[in-house]
Amino acid sequence: MLDSLDPWPPELLARLLHPGGAVAAALAMAPPGARALDLGTGWPSLAAALVSCGLDVTIADPVLLRLRFERLMSAAPVTDAVHLALTSQLPWPDDSFDRVFVDTAEVHRARGDLRFVIGEVARVLAPEGVAVVAQDAGGPSSRGRLLRLLREVGLPHATVLVARPGRADWSRVLDESRWGQHLTSEASQASAPSVRGKRLLKAAIAAAGGVRWLPADRFVVAYGPEAAPCDPLAEILAEPAGSRELIRLSDARVAVLGQESFVKLPLSRHQQDALIQEAQNTRRARSTGFAPHVIRSVHVHDWHGLPYVRYPLIRERHARPGEAEQTIAQILRGLAPGRDAPLGATAFWERLTGARGARDADEAGARALRARVLDTMADVSVPAGPTHGDLHADNLLLVDGGAAILVDWNRFEPFNPLVLDAGYAAIEHDRRSHGGSLAQALVRFRDRELTGPLAELASSTMGDLDSAQAATLILLDRVVSYSQPRRRYKPWTMPAMARAVAALAD
Ligand SMILES: Nc1ncnc2c1ncn2[C@@H]1O[C@H](COP(=O)(O)OP(=O)(O)OP(=O)(O)O)[C@@H](O)[C@H]1O
Ligand SMILES: [Mg+2]
Repeated sequence: MLDSLDPWPPELLARLLHPGGAVAAALAMAPPGARALDLGTGWPSLAAALVSCGLDVTIADPVLLRLRFERLMSAAPVTDAVHLALTSQLPWPDDSFDRVFVDTAEVHRARGDLRFVIGEVARVLAPEGVAVVAQDAGGPSSRGRLLRLLREVGLPHATVLVARPGRADWSRVLDESRWGQHLTSEASQASAPSVRGKRLLKAAIAAAGGVRWLPADRFVVAYGPEAAPCDPLAEILAEPAGSRELIRLSDARVAVLGQESFVKLPLSRHQQDALIQEAQNTRRARSTGFAPHVIRSVHVHDWHGLPYVRYPLIRERHARPGEAEQTIAQILRGLAPGRDAPLGATAFWERLTGARGARDADEAGARALRARVLDTMADVSVPAGPTHGDLHADNLLLVDGGAAILVDWNRFEPFNPLVLDAGYAAIEHDRRSHGGSLAQALVRFRDRELTGPLAELASSTMGDLDSAQAATLILLDRVVSYSQPRRRYKPWTMPAMARAVAALAD
């Protein structure tokens, strides 16, 4: 897709692949038909998210390659795309847009004057409109100055929101040592000693595994004088002033933490269906042996045709690794022992045999592995029953008083080989506690080197499989279980998967 003779600059690619772009769309939802302007944010996912919510979108960008990228990437590119400088007046009359999205760091990069650009944003924004201004962590302008500028141009009502990148989110995109190296090289290029000092400190924190302590990105949501907060999140976002934390999940959906609720909003057509499915699965899980560990309620709401899901907020803490291992093993032991069934009768098999399974396997280089399993294993007997589908410590929340709640039921299936849950949980636990790769943990599982309660449970749920076959099934289950087009939304998961396929094929 990218030209090999004319490579795109790394800063540009980093921006294009940034996982948080679409989150801005959720901060000021507008009804379908509302007019939105993406003023040079450089996130292709933002326009796609706005379009999926039915908005009439215009992209204006000083970087021509980004407009080109949007055309290449999007299934339905925005037709209203304008190449312009951020240094002159915007080519639209007053009050042209209901939503305007801009990023102070990008204004700076485009050599625009922030005061002038914010003035233009206010001019083209309708009185009932909302502007979302992103501020990169460590970016060039302070929050105080931005709020002052917004007041000066007649947008005095603003809420500051902090996107929580979260260690898990970042480490999926970029491992911590690389992030540390990047900051160190940035620091060596900084001319001012004070800037250099700050960056070196950040690099040291990152190198010590402290990515989560680095400042998070901020969004300032500024309301026009006649804006009525009316979107599904208004209630949550209007909660006490000051910085509020939200949590982003991926480019395709976003979750917001309220005082009482945990709301997931879809930001792509595909995620609209996936979230409805997740809600249904959560309810179905409640009629299985998982019941005591399923979140108490889930509601699907509708906002102008856009479904979104609301769970009660769990005031929880994540389990420590050893604790998670024990707790997950206890939950799995609490399930009925399962019913012996041929692999061919399970939900996993159905996914594997389908066209989607074939495509996913090809993409991960697992065509031969899949073919071998399909040819030889349909009749192998395994204990089967309900599976969560993504049993790792991040999906386990411990509530005060000791209750353990599992979240994230989008991969739940009522009748599956039980070893998929136990084996994957054992592998994930090993990976997280030893810092190894998926490939290494799978190989250790295959070679029966894993110990502990989850590994024992996995052994006891293998039925007639040997450990090499079980490892292969666990891997293929990951390969064909993603509920989203991975290459587009999670491109970084693919290399790890392909390496694991190669390791097991040996
Ligand atoms: N009801 C809740 N209350 C509080 N926190 C929650 C709740 N549900 C989920 N979380 C937190 O949010 C995180 C992400 O939610 P969830 O696991 O449902 O999404 P996800 O599918 O893992 O997202 P992705 O895989 O795209 O990162 C969880 O790991 C958990 O820490
Ligand atoms: Mg999860």
